Amino acid sequence: MPLEKLVITGGVPLKGVVRISGSKNACLPILAATLLTPELCVIRNVPDLADVRTMCALLKWLGVQVRHDRPGCVIETRAEKPVGVAPYDLVRKMRASVCLLGPLLARLHNCKVSMPGGCVIGNRPIDQHIKGLTRLGANVEVESGYVHAHCDELVGTDVFMGGRFGSTVLGTANVLMAAVLAKGTTIIESAACEPEIEDLAVFLNKMGAKIRGAGSPTLEIEGVKELHGADHVVIADRIEAGTFMVAAALTGGNIEIQGACAAHLGAVRDKLEEAGATVQRNNGTIRVTGGSLHKPLELTTMPYPGFPTDMQAQMCALMSITPGISVVTEKIYPNRFMHLSEMARLGADVALESNTAIIKGVNHLSGAPVMASDLRASAGLVLAGLAAEGETDIKRIYHLDRGYEHIDTKLRELGASVERLEDDDNNG
Ligand code: EPZ
Repeated sequence: MPLEKLVITGGVPLKGVVRISGSKNACLPILAATLLTPELCVIRNVPDLADVRTMCALLKWLGVQVRHDRPGCVIETRAEKPVGVAPYDLVRKMRASVCLLGPLLARLHNCKVSMPGGCVIGNRPIDQHIKGLTRLGANVEVESGYVHAHCDELVGTDVFMGGRFGSTVLGTANVLMAAVLAKGTTIIESAACEPEIEDLAVFLNKMGAKIRGAGSPTLEIEGVKELHGADHVVIADRIEAGTFMVAAALTGGNIEIQGACAAHLGAVRDKLEEAGATVQRNNGTIRVTGGSLHKPLELTTMPYPGFPTDMQAQMCALMSITPGISVVTEKIYPNRFMHLSEMARLGADVALESNTAIIKGVNHLSGAPVMASDLRASAGLVLAGLAAEGETDIKRIYHLDRGYEHIDTKLRELGASVERLEDDDNNG
């Protein structure tokens, strides 16, 4: 397929209404969890994204019947006789494939999932996943590029999931999905509290699991013998919603965001208000009005409910045109700053000291060709392009398409000048 780019002519205050899609990061482990039962599962509000297509391809490879009804965003799965090997060719496309490990192990007691490998946002080890599954009684070896996990049975116990950078989201998902079919009770301490984990637990409970404490750092799971099919509506994507909130703030626009859960966005709301934007919650919608951005920010990324690392690049775009000196410390992925050098091409005044970015707000950004390096970096560049004067070409937007459903259409509906074009520059 030819590469595509986005061409953005910035400087338009975005106005109107945007509806938020289902959450990518909730949907991926939930799709993996359908491996836990031979019965029909129906997953609704599934976003149309490259990562979702990769997860469906993986499930099909594993022998799951997958029916994808695009207009209704519904995926139906039936994992009657899954096989236990997830190959490198599919796994390498998406790191989230690692969350097949827990459900495959629980269902088959023997599985091999390719090691997900490195990632441009930094080193992403899976030692905590392995530690957690081992605590449940699995033997886990890494051999020939595969994680091989096997056991006679999984037995509930206490598992601590906190690491150097806080709790692990997909690690918690893996241990949770393994523990639901383990013998006895598992207590996961320092579990990830992200809404996506809570949504996974809600889905698992609909399947017949017995999980208490979802959304808190302590999960108690009473293992059951088997799970049944379930029907579930995936929560809204809080990162997509946060991205549109920043879009309203940094273009001086006025956007009503529909379908998002405001309670999931407290940290983002707080920082936008601090910078000078107005955020109102009315009857299930969030309205963000740009006004004048006047205050630089100090921002540190943290596990939920702290400020999400997945919103850091977007906030860097905002800070690049907010007067004063802003300071951003990245505590989850210390090297997740690939967007800064591209933002500098648009005129942003940025410096990096270890895992801290120092951003001096400039009067204006000016459009230029830039290169997307990863999903959220791309979103940061789109926002910077929307604020910049003139034309910004963003290359390699396949990164963006992994996590934002129809972003160019949604932006156009808000008045932005955004075109998706084939990129005939082979170096781009
Ligand atoms: C999830 O990744 C998300 N992905 C990421 O979103 C998100 O950035 C991240 O959580 C943090 O919020 C999905 O949900 C599919 P972690 P995950 O394990 O679970 C370290 C996006 O843009 N760590 O919570 O893989 C790790 O290196 C993506 O949508 C270990 O040290 O992240 C990091 O520093 C990118 N050992 C920290 O923990 C481990 O075994 C948190 O990572 C696991 C993680």
